[in-house]
Amino acid sequence: MRLIATVAAAAASVSVVNAHCYIWGVFVNGVDQGTFRAIRTPAYNGPSPHGYANSPVKNLTSVDLKCNVLGDKQVDYTIQVRPGDNLTFDWHHDKRTDTDDVIASSHHGPALVYLSPDPPTEDSFVKIWEEGLYELSEVPFGAGKWATTSDIAANHGHMNVRVPAGLKPGQVSASYLVRAEMIALHEGDASYLKNQFRGAQFYPNCVQIEVVGDGTVELPKGVSFPGAYDYSDPGVVFDTSPLPTTPCATTYQIPGPTVWSGAWPTTTAIEVGPISGPTTATLWSSWIQKSIVTYASYDGSEANILSTSVYTAEWSTTYQTPAAMPTPTAQRDPPDPVVF
Ligand SMILES: *[C@@H]1O[C@H](CO)[C@@H](O)[C@H](O)[C@H]1NC(C)=O
Ligand SMILES: *[C@@H]1O[C@H](CO)[C@@H](O)[C@H](O)[C@H]1NC(C)=O
Repeated sequence: MRLIATVAAAAASVSVVNAHCYIWGVFVNGVDQGTFRAIRTPAYNGPSPHGYANSPVKNLTSVDLKCNVLGDKQVDYTIQVRPGDNLTFDWHHDKRTDTDDVIASSHHGPALVYLSPDPPTEDSFVKIWEEGLYELSEVPFGAGKWATTSDIAANHGHMNVRVPAGLKPGQVSASYLVRAEMIALHEGDASYLKNQFRGAQFYPNCVQIEVVGDGTVELPKGVSFPGAYDYSDPGVVFDTSPLPTTPCATTYQIPGPTVWSGAWPTTTAIEVGPISGPTTATLWSSWIQKSIVTYASYDGSEANILSTSVYTAEWSTTYQTPAAMPTPTAQRDPPDPVVF
């Protein structure tokens, strides 16, 4: 079936404001674990090259705020880590290289990392790192320095966090989910509750880790997703553009709870080795539009639909040993763009 033209045309008209930012890889102590390995990659809304990620979640009561669309689906690989290990999440937009823009330059906002046993339960997400507006602008009406645009995008998409000291292997299983998140506030001056064309864009992305060793430290009670954020939070509806002139103190309050005292208060960037796996855009073999999941294979530039199904996130309450799931990426080069 020839599908790409219609999907692409629909996608092209609405995709411009989304940043399509997600995690492409994880380095452990600087060693890459492989492109898309152990990462619950959000589904795309259409096949590449014209498809676009629906990765921004704007509805704060949606289950997608937990780990994004398809975040309930396990991937068949879990990264082994030890307490004290340095993790570097490699966020990208179009390609996994240092020339990628990572996230649009207008998308100022905070970056946050939570840790939860896998599967998450009520109040199980514990914040272990955050960064918001960390430096005010020196010029009047300047945006200042934000985690997403000035730190992570400027550092080739690297978001650094450290596995808490002494962390115990999980109680039910040894596995945890790391919920890493970027929040883009370029339309965050409006509340999504009042205007669904605008609102803060949340980019949560979950990574499966297994903690090994003989640690004894347990995570405290945390927060739930959805639930932790509200439209009345000052950091959810916030205008990044007209900051007053310095030295007027202007603070930004990062959404969610405070960082757990057992987490590393600051993390340093560590040197990373070479990337293992593809670095270029790949075709998406599954995507979601209006809760319909489509699985496809590709023949040249054409998407051949294999099956469709209705998607409802189904979070298990018990840990399942990961089984191979349909992967949202097809590991091959994208076709030439379709010309209309
Ligand atoms: C937000 O998500 C909730 C829960 O899924 C749903 O009931 C509500 O209709 C959604 N709101 C919008 C504006 O889509
Ligand atoms: C993590 O990084 C810190 C700071 O650079 C370093 O002191 C520590 O040894 C690193 N941990 C591991 C396991 O390499």
